[in-house]
Amino acid sequence: MAERVLACAPCHGAQGEGTRDPYFPHLAGKPAGYLFNQLVAFRNGRRHYPPMNYLLAYLPEAYLNEMAEYLAGLNPPLPPPAVPTAGKEVLATGQRLVTQGDASRNIPACTSCHGSNLTGMEPGIPGLLGLKPNYISAQLGAWRYGTRTALAPDCMQVVAGHLTEVDVAAVTAWLSSRPAPEERRSVPRGTYALPFACGSQPQ
Ligand code: HEC
Ligand code: HEC
Repeated sequence: MAERVLACAPCHGAQGEGTRDPYFPHLAGKPAGYLFNQLVAFRNGRRHYPPMNYLLAYLPEAYLNEMAEYLAGLNPPLPPPAVPTAGKEVLATGQRLVTQGDASRNIPACTSCHGSNLTGMEPGIPGLLGLKPNYISAQLGAWRYGTRTALAPDCMQVVAGHLTEVDVAAVTAWLSSRPAPEERRSVPRGTYALPFACGSQPQ
């Protein structure tokens, strides 16, 4: 598998650790079920990025599953946090939305699904640390505009649908500036209950 994923290394790093590119996400250590869902999503056109759609076209699920397991098992350090360009108030708003949400606007705390340390939960919920600001805001935008979808019920589409552009900027600024936690592995399935259902996270 190490040889097979060489095709991915220019964009995702030889160990799936990410590259200096300001957009490309790291892959290593994300939950295998999450990675598998994304590989299927690119193969089937549910997520859009032509080089990835092309690379994964026609690959069978058993192969994508092996690839996902392999990448999930790698454990290089997370990419370094971004130096925040936003002001203190924006960062404070981002922190509040991520850790507490905003009940008056139906925004749940991101930590209620992504975990109090934001490291995610197996099998389907990814951690949110080590991602580049451009990538985070593009993914939230893609859900808001329906160009990225996940297995139904698509809880992220509901969450993103309640965020404004200003919220997205604040959440992105705060998340991307967080240092890596000591234990970056996702917690096991069933460690906590989600506030509402996600099709990609069987409970
Ligand atoms: C030309 C650069 C490029 C190559 C080559 C490439 N990727 Fe990607 N990959 C991307 C980009 C960019 C994204 C994010 C696309 C988006 O949704 O905006 C991505 C997203 C992903 C994701 C989803 C990550 C997440 O956190 O949701 C996975 C999984 C992935 N790639 C796996 C692979 C694998 C496995 C290979 C090799 C077979 C590969 N990629 C090859 C650029 C690349
Ligand atoms: C009800 C549970 C739930 C809540 C609340 C939630 N998420 Fe998610 N999130 C998910 C799931 C499930 C996925 C994986 C979806 C998939 O398979 O594509 C996800 C994926 C993501 C991703 C994609 C990561 C990547 O590597 O591409 C981002 C970014 C994200 N969430 C941000 C947020 C933010 C910001 C908040 C708070 C405003 C939030 N989430 C709240 C369940 C949730």
